[in-house]
Amino acid sequence: MILAIESSCDETAVAIYDKDKNLFLSSLISSQINIHNKFGGVIPDIASSLHLECISKLVNDAIKKTKITLKDLSFIAATVGPGLPGALLVGASYAKIIAWSLNIPFIGINHLEGHIYSSGIENNLLFPHLCLSVSGGHTSIYYVENMESYKECLTTSDDAAGELFDKISKLIGLSYPGGPIIEKLAIINNFKNVRNYPILRKKDLYLSFSGLKTAVLYDLIALGFYDIKKKKLTSPIPYSLQKDIASSLLHSVSESLLSRVDLLINKNNNIKGISFVGGVACNNFLKRNLISLAANYNISCWIPSKIYCTDNAAMIAYIAKFRIKNSSYKTDIKI
Ligand code: KG4
Ligand code: ZN
Repeated sequence: MILAIESSCDETAVAIYDKDKNLFLSSLISSQINIHNKFGGVIPDIASSLHLECISKLVNDAIKKTKITLKDLSFIAATVGPGLPGALLVGASYAKIIAWSLNIPFIGINHLEGHIYSSGIENNLLFPHLCLSVSGGHTSIYYVENMESYKECLTTSDDAAGELFDKISKLIGLSYPGGPIIEKLAIINNFKNVRNYPILRKKDLYLSFSGLKTAVLYDLIALGFYDIKKKKLTSPIPYSLQKDIASSLLHSVSESLLSRVDLLINKNNNIKGISFVGGVACNNFLKRNLISLAANYNISCWIPSKIYCTDNAAMIAYIAKFRIKNSSYKTDIKI
């Protein structure tokens, strides 16, 4: 039985996993989004203290939801990076203390690896495959050889796609996190691409989203809604323009991401499928487009359920299982 903790950003999460039965006995998430959205983004110090406030209760609640007791646990896992240092420290230290007190191994897990393999929780993955991992902190495409080995083919040289949604949402007067709001407005606007924002050149293997951010900013300046010297809006953006920006932005992000995936499918032999993971993989427009791209190549497409796309502890427990199986972890309970 594995108890896993995730606390790398603004979600505290705890999962209890029966690795032999491949069964999650509990998977709880306490989100801080309502607090951070007042500030238009995650405030690291607030994130750390909120993790600290809720972690003990969340672990107790996760155990109470099952029929097990602490004595039934044989491994404790936690995210050790990358993420906000203070936030990581809370979850990892708490996990190490439980491991130390029960005299069982602690396994440190990389957050990005958690996302990369998260599609395996509900699917039988085929290898090799490509993984499109898109969240607020990272946007990368990986070549995944097996459950132990993967390599990064491409990563954004500046903003992550989720970060772009969050920043543009804030810029046009909407709240945090921006991704779900941008998606909602794009749906209402029938996914119309009216502002014609740039799309990454089809043939070149690079990934960058800061140009798109600048394009939206310059669009607002040209329309007279943004004062570049004062660095603020001159007047609130009308709802119709917010919708047009949202749907056009989503269109450009989709085209840009999909053409990179397309290039990499062609560049790598033998690709059996593509997985789409991370918070941005909650987006139904992007999902649909990726599913049809995979269908064109007659390969599989795996996208986790929403609860496994955004930050969660189940994906951390899932990776721990493979570390245990291959004895490829170091027990380190130094704090
Ligand atoms: O994986 P995640 O929960 O946390 C990080 O590790 O960053 O991803 C959060 C990101 C945010 O940037 C949020 O705006 C984006 O995922 N997101 C979405 C949607 N839901 C969340 N982006 C686009 N469409 C969505 N429906
Ligand atoms: Zn994440």
